Amino acid sequence: MPCKGYTTGMKNIRSQNQSTETQSLHFRINNAETHPVATPIYQNSAFTADSPYFYTRKSNPNSVELEGALAILERSKHVVTTTTGMSAIMLVLQQLKPGDHLVVNQYIYGCSYKLFQRYAQQMNLTLTILDLSEGVGRESIPDDVSMVLFETPTNPFLKTIPIAEVAEIMAKKNPKALLVVDNTWATALFQNPLECGAHVSLASATKYISGHSDVMGGFIAVNDDQLADDLLQSRFYSGAILDPNSAWLLRRSLHTFPIRMREHLRITQTLATFLKTRDEVGKIYLPETSKNQLRSYGGILFFEFSKDDSELNSSEDGYTQFRDALTLFDSGTGMACVSSMVAQPWSGSHASLCDVEKIEMGINTGLVRLCFGLEDADDLIRDLENAFSAMSLFKPRETKKEIRKRVVTRRARRWTKR
Ligand SMILES: Cc1ncc(COP(=O)(O)O)c(C=O)c1O
Repeated sequence: MPCKGYTTGMKNIRSQNQSTETQSLHFRINNAETHPVATPIYQNSAFTADSPYFYTRKSNPNSVELEGALAILERSKHVVTTTTGMSAIMLVLQQLKPGDHLVVNQYIYGCSYKLFQRYAQQMNLTLTILDLSEGVGRESIPDDVSMVLFETPTNPFLKTIPIAEVAEIMAKKNPKALLVVDNTWATALFQNPLECGAHVSLASATKYISGHSDVMGGFIAVNDDQLADDLLQSRFYSGAILDPNSAWLLRRSLHTFPIRMREHLRITQTLATFLKTRDEVGKIYLPETSKNQLRSYGGILFFEFSKDDSELNSSEDGYTQFRDALTLFDSGTGMACVSSMVAQPWSGSHASLCDVEKIEMGINTGLVRLCFGLEDADDLIRDLENAFSAMSLFKPRETKKEIRKRVVTRRARRWTKR
């Protein structure tokens, strides 16, 4: 039976001799005639031979649109999106050949650090770890350097690494060496590494670009055509492309990314001012901003408790008391989203490092990471005040008079019960 009800906008009206199953299978709306305000999800793996697309493992309208929007923000010629931030780093590392020399900064996300160690061993690379936030560290970049990779500001401690200065040193040592900046924490809104001299700016889109803790992704921004082509090929053969649904979600999140970042910035400034007034708080870590590199910054800060590690861990675990008393800060892995998060780098972001490596990085159990979401700043302040008061370590010591009074009251209560 021929199928009735095809409207003029519909395409592919098949021969009336075909079965309803075949006709139903081939029924399509005419995509060229729909004019959606937002691009729909192209949830397809294959394209017809006359399509400019080939196969979703190579590219897809949703990833292409996301890449175009990200390239504008990164101020780059090309962007290659990937499944996660780690796969973005992995694709870039694949630019290295056995025998090459990789230099990474000492302060870096724990999983990246582990990946460099593993990959260097597997690929027979020389791996040098330097503190590039210090002049001596930058001057120690070896002459045979092939790639330098760092985050700025760094995780942890939010140290600044001057990108232009590293680029200048590298150009003198080996002009072919690649300078790679992980721009996840600064974000393209506040820092554009390619304009400072980096060859590659990459990021985990799982963080601020998504902003809602509901999708994973990564991307690599470059200006060099050949490098972009190599990265696209590596992505095609390794299958590291974002699926259309994730690309669509990230593109959607990108619409509110600048407003979210400006609000994260405002809340971070208010909360940093509050933390400075607290006796429980020792050092607060925030990055330096400058008009040439990190133009502005907000979202994450670190602080140390004013008591040292041994005091903090002596009777009860101080950090656990603090974390458990918080009601607006979620704990666990993840960050840079609409809800606030609290984390202890020792047991969280840097848990994959052994204790010696963590101590070498300057991480102790009293180091806390706060990531501010979009809650009302006054509510966050009240929540933090309550959490500090819940820490037995900071409860004021009782005077002899107060102890005597407490004992007497308890005894009196016992007597009344009898
Ligand atoms: C600075 C930085 N780079 C890369 C990554 C890895 O990103 P993803 O979790 O999307 O793989 C993270 C994750 O926390 C990160 O903080």
